[in-house]
Amino acid sequence: MSRIETLIGDMTLAEKLGQLTMTASSYAVTGPIIAGDSTASIANGTLGNLLNMIGSGPTREMQRLAVEKSRLGIPLLIGLDVIHGHRTLFPIPLAEAALFDPEAWTQTAREAATEAAHDGLAMTFAPMLDVSRDPRWGRTAEGPGEDPWLGACIAAAKVRGFQGDDLASVDSIAACAKHFCAYGPVTAGREYASVDISERTLHEVHLPPFDAAVEAGVATIMPSFTDLAGIPMTANTALLRDYLRHKLGFDGVLVSDFNAIGELIRHGVAADLPEAAALALNAGVDIDMMADAYRRGLPVALERGLVTMEQIDVAVRRVLTLKERLGLFDDPYRRGLKPETTAAVAHRRQLARAVGARAIVMLKNDAETLPLATSIKRLAVIGPLADAPAEMGGPWTAAGEPERHVSVVAGLRRALPGTEILYAAGVAIAAEDKSGIAAAVDVCDRANAILLCLGEAAAMSGEAASRAYLELPGQQRALAEAVFEHARERGIRVTVILFSGRPLVVPWLAEQAHALLAAWFLGSEAGNAIADIVTGKISPGGRTPISWPRALGQVPIFFGQRPSGRPADPEDRFTSKYLDVSNEPLYPFGHGLTYGRFTLANFRVTPQAVSETDTLEVSVDVTNEGPRPAEETVFLFTRDKVACVARPLLELKGFGKVRLQPGETATVRLFLAATQLRFPGRDLTPVFEPGEVELLAGPCADRSKLLFGTVHLRV
Ligand code: NOJ
Repeated sequence: MSRIETLIGDMTLAEKLGQLTMTASSYAVTGPIIAGDSTASIANGTLGNLLNMIGSGPTREMQRLAVEKSRLGIPLLIGLDVIHGHRTLFPIPLAEAALFDPEAWTQTAREAATEAAHDGLAMTFAPMLDVSRDPRWGRTAEGPGEDPWLGACIAAAKVRGFQGDDLASVDSIAACAKHFCAYGPVTAGREYASVDISERTLHEVHLPPFDAAVEAGVATIMPSFTDLAGIPMTANTALLRDYLRHKLGFDGVLVSDFNAIGELIRHGVAADLPEAAALALNAGVDIDMMADAYRRGLPVALERGLVTMEQIDVAVRRVLTLKERLGLFDDPYRRGLKPETTAAVAHRRQLARAVGARAIVMLKNDAETLPLATSIKRLAVIGPLADAPAEMGGPWTAAGEPERHVSVVAGLRRALPGTEILYAAGVAIAAEDKSGIAAAVDVCDRANAILLCLGEAAAMSGEAASRAYLELPGQQRALAEAVFEHARERGIRVTVILFSGRPLVVPWLAEQAHALLAAWFLGSEAGNAIADIVTGKISPGGRTPISWPRALGQVPIFFGQRPSGRPADPEDRFTSKYLDVSNEPLYPFGHGLTYGRFTLANFRVTPQAVSETDTLEVSVDVTNEGPRPAEETVFLFTRDKVACVARPLLELKGFGKVRLQPGETATVRLFLAATQLRFPGRDLTPVFEPGEVELLAGPCADRSKLLFGTVHLRV
């Protein structure tokens, strides 16, 4: 008999339920404070999994209790939210999505895994794959943005990065695709609210990133807190058991979200803890995080006949199999053994800086305001986010070290040693006091250029951070207006560096700024990364992975909308539009300027007719007509104009990048497997329909900027 079967044969019910339980230590707080377990439960074998413990010393000590003190010596599984880096923080996931670079996505996850594993961890609760089309939802910051195809690319890259080639390796950790699924469309963008979307939207928009994670071999999946049309995901048999387990063949571990099994009672689908526990187990949830519903509820559920011992054994088997795959049975102390070399840590900081710079999206740059001349004498760096190192980390920084984050002021002082950096905060991020504005304006008086660092506080996005107003908080607008007015009078250019975990709705700011950078939250090296961009050491290359609304009333706003029977026509009142604002976003998906000036020409598609098993090649010639070297991103979209089901106006199917010197031209080739032109038919079964499909390539999801051609599909 295998090790696992022998163990299951030996285990008491209490020991089995211990393997199905994960509780938190108090090292990091990532949910409501509910008392965790005492170490006695680890030693007596009734607790098999921990979250929120950090550090090779403490994790090793807990592991020792499990392995040396408990009766069966089963190693602990210890996990943490390693969302965008561990101690070294990379840009928040939404910002990283702006890279459109699978290799970089994998690389940062690999580095985060290595660092987390050195801290004794074997599991992360990442990647977060919830597509978000509503920036009111704070968790937009944690995810891939608005597009399912992009979400699927990120899913595969991140799973590869966290898990490496071999889960048992000392620097691999188990990834967790979360939150399954359709957490993004919470009602009115309000955190933890109910979700009610069509089956089609579920299949076309919210499932593809999870399909890709399973395909990439993700070890664990976390159901979301929310319900879908009345059925909480933690108890959603149709999606967890029938779809994930049976249809996709996912045989890894399903771990509940924090107290989510207990919350089935508040959802109104379980009368008590035994019922809640039974619902989750029946749906296929293996590990109960923080509800203690399995240990307290399943014994009663067994007595009531709501579950069977076989079901409990199946879940225990999955958990033990994961521990085995992680190499924990062979050597429970394998992670966290050796301290990292200084070179490895320095390399990781370098990567954070490089990726940070590439994640910045230059939304606007009038009259080449950026880059700043490096000979600039006096630079005013104004605003509450200018010298705020701790804010740079963004949300989800469980093990991040805020004292080591680089602020904008610090980054610029290092990058521009010959420039006098004049700093004033002016106002706090979210307070009503305006008394510092006059002094900040005075500081601008002496400057040759102004950088205005505005935005949200890190804690205003992420979990439990929905906002109904997406303006700048506090008195930042008053500060900005005063600075703009003063700068206008003196003829000084103003660059705004905007920090946020989501698109903010600030058309007035975009209008008045000469240059505008979306700096999201860039992590440990934020200030250096920003300095690299504003001084022109690096040309900005980030592209927004989510549309920026011009008015909050446009939300949800995304490029993949379906056509209306009455498309917007300014001459015709009875068409699909607003009376008071255009339908178009302020900045479309994919928008992002560079220090180059690119033109695209000569769109080709070969072959011009394909069947389902063929691959298409789309090529365009890209020329850099600007004065500086830069990298251009070319997106590939499709548009199926006539089909059995109305298809979105644009569907993302690919992207490519090319780096060009001034005056240089190169061809970007994008390959598309014709199977990608399938779509869920009327009954949601994938179909490949004959007919014409438009292919479009260009710099963003603004149709007027795309080159296009057609391909004929034959069956
Ligand atoms: C709740 C969050 O929804 C989830 O994403 C996270 O992994 C857990 N808390 C654990 O911290």
